[in-house]
Amino acid sequence: METVKGFIVILMSSISSCMLYSKQHASVEELIGKSFSILDTLLKQSGRFEMVIVEDELIVNENPLRDTGTHGSTLVKRLMRKGISRIDIVKGITLSELRQFVSDIATADKKPLSCPHIKIGVVDIEIDRMNMNIDSTDGEFSSVTSELRQKTREGYLKVSPFKRLNVADFQELVRHFIIMMQKEIGILNIMSPVSSPGDSYYTHANNVAVLTMFQARTLGIREDSLSDIGIAALFHDIGKLLIPKDQMKQEGGGELQEEGRMLHPVYGAQYLTRIDGLTRLAPIVAFEHHLRYDGKGYPQHAIPNYRQHICSQMTAISDYFDALRNARPEMRVLEVKEVLSLMKTKDEGLFNPFLINNFIRSIHLALS
Ligand SMILES: [Fe+2]
Ligand SMILES: [Fe+2]
Repeated sequence: METVKGFIVILMSSISSCMLYSKQHASVEELIGKSFSILDTLLKQSGRFEMVIVEDELIVNENPLRDTGTHGSTLVKRLMRKGISRIDIVKGITLSELRQFVSDIATADKKPLSCPHIKIGVVDIEIDRMNMNIDSTDGEFSSVTSELRQKTREGYLKVSPFKRLNVADFQELVRHFIIMMQKEIGILNIMSPVSSPGDSYYTHANNVAVLTMFQARTLGIREDSLSDIGIAALFHDIGKLLIPKDQMKQEGGGELQEEGRMLHPVYGAQYLTRIDGLTRLAPIVAFEHHLRYDGKGYPQHAIPNYRQHICSQMTAISDYFDALRNARPEMRVLEVKEVLSLMKTKDEGLFNPFLINNFIRSIHLALS
């Protein structure tokens, strides 16, 4: 990640220098040469460099890039001004392609064009982006089998601070969801119906996983990251199953006590951190899913300017949507359109504005 940050810094320095001097100037040429050399190393390591801008956040190869300082934020602003929110660079890029790209970004009123090794675009709804080469006639994957449903339901029931979670069945469940999405089965048909009280944890966890992967797909996030995102979202509330009994229930009620509720992100993150082979996103999302985009929310923390991971931001949106959709004893079940308009008018600062707009737009599209 350090090299990625280094590339962003040198790339922006090249652009700034190109704006100050002519593109043939020796210092510009030197900086572009340095950028090219770092990029070459990155492409040798991972074979690709995919940069996506979501709101004001830079995401490179699916990893949110923080701490790039003014160079990073200036690059984001400059690209956004030119209407660019996605850049894909692939192996084989030449120095002259990079030189042209830097020059076009530096030149006012000029928008860089895609070339063989640099693809320029926007992040937009691309529901059909995935191509997993699954035979669409293969009935085995057309739905989640009742056996798998049963296994995962039992898996949740076995969660305890003293037992390690067996993640294999959950990974298989997520894989089935991905395949169903790939087969263009409507998102609301993949989600479990509004849950009965006894089944609420299971259906809520599954629905939040499906909705969060759905969001990731609409943002064009690579298919090989979907499983990790789905698993992380699936376990977002696992801390609720780990709350000590004395913090569990209010007298005569089924809701979690305030103390237990506020601590479930912490219990979940601690538990998930100890599980081998689990995506590192899982404890992050468990810890952060009740933080707000404006930095408020819970659990409270002492790090100034702490920002939620983008997967936690997406999970928070899915969580809210599914919670509103589901029956509570004191509330009527809301229609999907009612939930969306409620989310639209929700107070600023709760969600990332780009992500919530994308979510509302994508669900509307799925309904039409
Ligand atoms: Fe939660
Ligand atoms: Fe939740």
